[in-house]
Amino acid sequence: MKFFVDTADVDEIKALLETGLLDGVTTNPSLIAKSGRNILEVLEEICDLVPGPVSGEVTATDAPTMIKEGEKLAKIAPNLTVKLPLTFDGIKACYALSQQGIKTNVTLCFSSAQALLAAKAGATFISPFVGRLDDIGSNGMDLIADICQVYSMYPDIHTEVLVASIRNPIHLMEAAKMGADVATIPPKVIHQLFKHPLTDAGLEAFLKDWEGTGQNIL
Ligand code: G3P
Repeated sequence: MKFFVDTADVDEIKALLETGLLDGVTTNPSLIAKSGRNILEVLEEICDLVPGPVSGEVTATDAPTMIKEGEKLAKIAPNLTVKLPLTFDGIKACYALSQQGIKTNVTLCFSSAQALLAAKAGATFISPFVGRLDDIGSNGMDLIADICQVYSMYPDIHTEVLVASIRNPIHLMEAAKMGADVATIPPKVIHQLFKHPLTDAGLEAFLKDWEGTGQNIL
């Protein structure tokens, strides 16, 4: 399973790159706004840092302008993936950009029917939002299972399932058990993945015993 980080915070991305865990980055207009930076500048910096796909989202709502924005974003770097909302115009733009060989990530997906449209339009990634479904009392993970099942029925579908709106490690591990291709994870949740109280307690005991030996490795 590929791990993307869902952030436009360059310092956080640099820190995570050092773990070797990072396969890509996703941003959205809210994350760009949170960074306080210019969208083109911050995406260029992230694309230089991360060899894998980096999603930058269009902000127009009509297909012709989405296509122009997507073409401009795609010029930033070869690993820039154009993120488009799952609307009628977003799907039209996805089809047009995909025909040009530009990588696309169709976002704000909340149903398996929507995921099928994105795949038919040639999307590189589909981004179903699990946390936001849970927030309204639906089961976000059921959507991931449905999309994985539908896509698996058609060998000519190459769209990758990119699980988004992940709020906790359970979301991630449920998605991994379903065989989802990618998870985009907020930095806070990536740090939570490392944590286990028995790891902390075990390490504390080892270090206490080691101290008693008076030895040093270096
Ligand atoms: O970037 C899309 C998605 O991951 C947003 O997550 O937590 O704002 O629902 P969230």
